[in-house]
Amino acid sequence: MANTRPKIILDCDPGLDDAIAILTAAHYCDLVGITTVNGNVGIDHTTNNALLTTQIAGLDVPVHRGAARPLIAPTMDAARIHGETGLGDVKTPDLTRSIASNNAVDFLCESARSIQDLHLIAVGPLTNVALALRQDPDFANNLASITIMGGAARGGNVTAVAEFNVWADPEAAAIIFTEAAPITMVGLDVTHQVLFGIEEAEHLAKVGTEVAIFASQLLEFTYHRCREFGMTGAPIHDATAIICVTHPHLYERSRHPVSVELQGEHTRGMTVTDMRPFLESLEFSDDLPAAHDVVWTADADTVKEHIITAVAAL
Ligand code: RIB
Ligand code: CA
Repeated sequence: MANTRPKIILDCDPGLDDAIAILTAAHYCDLVGITTVNGNVGIDHTTNNALLTTQIAGLDVPVHRGAARPLIAPTMDAARIHGETGLGDVKTPDLTRSIASNNAVDFLCESARSIQDLHLIAVGPLTNVALALRQDPDFANNLASITIMGGAARGGNVTAVAEFNVWADPEAAAIIFTEAAPITMVGLDVTHQVLFGIEEAEHLAKVGTEVAIFASQLLEFTYHRCREFGMTGAPIHDATAIICVTHPHLYERSRHPVSVELQGEHTRGMTVTDMRPFLESLEFSDDLPAAHDVVWTADADTVKEHIITAVAAL
């Protein structure tokens, strides 16, 4: 079982892996609410997909609609990975749920102010989180922790050096990394170690519940799409971030200054991570960027087991 059952808000852009993250969080966390953001696909789709996922799983979790576009960057999407609607080619029922509000930022700020020990897990572009910090300068301090799926100390996916969530709204990410330290960065360094195969999809299909079959189809679509891009398996990035909060002992992390590149012609959206060894012996001097917990490794098999167990148990 999870080490703790943390109270969380999940900020997300469903998205295939976001949908599995919602299901995983519902099992291991007290999922206080979901906020949606433009990202993998447009805000209408990400919001509908969050509602559909909670509807299929029978979850009475409020969904609050958030930002429809990045702070400054042009609106881009990841439909080539997630499909036009954001849930691949998965057939979904007619939507019967509706949003709790149109104002994710108010919900984030009010919840952080009124709920003790509330953790924020953000697995999409950080637009809502940056707007919450602008609306309430105490937002980060009111939270027990902030964990993001985003960034990469090495490499990238949407460019050679940038990960999609940071790249899609780098100005928002820069605000978080500068003003909300320390956060936990669950980046590609670790999510690319937790790869799902078709066998996990087949296992969930055999579970046979509506939500397990739904998740099985999400996994299957993700797996085949990743294989088309030459990957050996499907990283379920966002659910990996959930397990990092509920089962922290399965991950290794260390603290490093991290800054978000905004100007580079080839490096915009890069999470520049200072891994110089001598920094460990010194207090980070004032002229270094704020330091954050960078996650490097995971017990991948156990993480995958926990995600599958969560979905099968709903
Ligand atoms: O780079 C992976 C991240 O981008 C995941 O959160 C995925 O859902 C997409 O938003
Ligand atoms: Ca996401």
